[in-house]
Amino acid sequence: MRINILTLFPELFGPFFSTSIVGRAVAAGLVSLRCMNFREFATDAHRSVDDRPFGGGPGMVLMCPPIVDALEDLESGEKEEPVRILLTPQGEPFTQEIAAELSSEPWLTLICGHYEGFDDRIRSVKKVREISIGDFVLSGGEPAAIVLVDSVVRLLPGALGHKESALDESFADGTLEYPQYTRPREYRGLEVPEVLLSGDHGRIAAWRLEQSLLRTAQRRPDLLDRLASGGRERKQ
Ligand code: ADE
Repeated sequence: MRINILTLFPELFGPFFSTSIVGRAVAAGLVSLRCMNFREFATDAHRSVDDRPFGGGPGMVLMCPPIVDALEDLESGEKEEPVRILLTPQGEPFTQEIAAELSSEPWLTLICGHYEGFDDRIRSVKKVREISIGDFVLSGGEPAAIVLVDSVVRLLPGALGHKESALDESFADGTLEYPQYTRPREYRGLEVPEVLLSGDHGRIAAWRLEQSLLRTAQRRPDLLDRLASGGRERKQ
């Protein structure tokens, strides 16, 4: 898989690209991650990428030409188009399901905004999928791009070692994960649930399923509503 990131702040991504699961996936050749600074495509002497909004108002708006020219430079001579993703609080809410969908694409281009957002015509000039990582406003799309890349790359076949599985974790089947415990068996008077020490795999699986549903009902009843109204079946 190939992921390009259009950003005014490529320096934010270095350690993220080379650390932990994403770093391992890059080293193993499962994904290629490249930043492109679209300021390189500014055309004036000041290398401007933004300007004041027509109609007045606070802040600055990212201009279309540097972003569109960067995209066209990146895509020139390629047979296929990437899935282009505009990171914006106005986008569709990001979910594990979207991460799984994107993880089977050969090529993604993420576009990180800054300031007061994009000239709206970017949405007409280029086919883009708009994604938000939550109902809050970031100073720029870069933290959102990091969130998206992390959640997508860890789903690539071979990215997780067999000790880390994507099948069991929260959201893998639309519910939250069951509680986990490790050594010591007793900590400050708190015992590990007896069933987990029983060695009875059937009982353990049943307990985990129950806990997962209980936890989801307590913390995220909206997820159960979604499952009940035709969401995917639980994998067991
Ligand atoms: N850029 C600014 N805020 C954002 C958000 N919540 N999600 C994605 N991109 C953003």
